[in-house]
Amino acid sequence: MAVNNYEHVWHNGKFIPWREATIHVSAHALHYASSLFEGMRCYDTVHGPAIFRLKDHTVRLVNSAKVYRMDLPYSGEQLAEAIVELVRVNNVKHCYIRPLAFRGVGEMGVNPLKNPIEVYIMAWAWGKYLGDEALRNGVDVCISSWQRIAPNTLPAMAKAAANYMNAQLMKMEALTNGYSEGISLDVTGHVSEGSGENIFVIRDGKIYTPPLSSSVLPGITRDSVITLALEMGYPLSEENISREALYIADEVFLTGTAAEVTPIRSVDRIVVGKGQPGPVTRALQERFLAIVQGQAEDKYGWLTLCNQPVTAGH
Ligand SMILES: Cc1ncc(COP(=O)(O)O)c(C=O)c1O
Repeated sequence: MAVNNYEHVWHNGKFIPWREATIHVSAHALHYASSLFEGMRCYDTVHGPAIFRLKDHTVRLVNSAKVYRMDLPYSGEQLAEAIVELVRVNNVKHCYIRPLAFRGVGEMGVNPLKNPIEVYIMAWAWGKYLGDEALRNGVDVCISSWQRIAPNTLPAMAKAAANYMNAQLMKMEALTNGYSEGISLDVTGHVSEGSGENIFVIRDGKIYTPPLSSSVLPGITRDSVITLALEMGYPLSEENISREALYIADEVFLTGTAAEVTPIRSVDRIVVGKGQPGPVTRALQERFLAIVQGQAEDKYGWLTLCNQPVTAGH
C-alpha cells in the first residue's frame, strides 16, 4: 500500500514538510536496526478526530526505549502532546500515526551509545490493513515456518524495528503461498502471534490468547479486547496454545492497531468453525469498533479528542 501521507511531520520538536523528513545513509539505525516505533490510529468519531489509547502507546514507546538504553529526549507526555498537535496541524479526521525514535548520524560501529537520538512522528491515511473484505469475511492464514524470536534473543516486549525482520520473513512467506498472514509459533512450539497482530482463539464459549511469555508484543488492541471480553462476560484465559488448537477452534481472530479485530476463516487451509466470522468475534469486533468510532460510551477513557485546528509554523 503506497503511503498516502499528510504534509506535516514532527521532528525533534518542530514541524517540517513531509519531503524534508529525510535522513543520511550513515544513520546508525539503517545499519544496525537501532530504531523503535509505535503505531496508533486516530478515528473520525462523532465527537471529532480522536486518538485511540494515546497514553498507552506513548508509554510503550518509552518502555521500548528503556529496554534499549535509549534516553529519549522527550517524555511520554510531551510525545502525546506532539501527536495531538500533529493531527491538528495536518487537519485530518482520521489517520494512522507513526512515532519513530532511532539512533542517527554519528559514529559507525555496533556501539550505539554515542549516536544522537532522532524522534519523528508522521501520519498517513491507512485503510483496512488486511484488505477491505478482511474485517467482514475474515482472512486465510498459515502457520509460519519462521519461529517467533525466542526469549532473551530480541526483546519481544519492545516494539523495535529489528523484530520486524522476523515479521517480514513471516509475511513474505504467507503472501507468496497465497495467505493473508502468517502466525508464528514461539520457541517452545506454542502459538505466538501474527507478523503485526496478536491472536485469540475461541472454543466452547471460552476465549484464549497466548501469554506475553510466548514472545508476543503486549498489544494495546489485545489489552482492549481482553477488557471488553471480560466486561461482556466471556471467560478468558492467557495460556499456552498449541498449533492444532487453531485448527479445531470454533473461532479465531487477530487484533492490532492496523488490523483492528479481524476474523480468521482458515488456518493452513483448514476451515475454522463454519468458515465465517463467529458470534463471539462479531460481538467483540462490533463493541470495539463502536467505542473507537465514538458511537458507544468511552467508559475506559480510551479516546483523546484532538479537534481545534492550529497552524503548523515550520
Ligand atoms: C508483532 C505485533 N504484534 C501485535 C501487534 C498489535 O499491537 P497493537 O494492538 O498495540 O497495535 C502489533 C502491532 O503493533 C505487532 O506489530
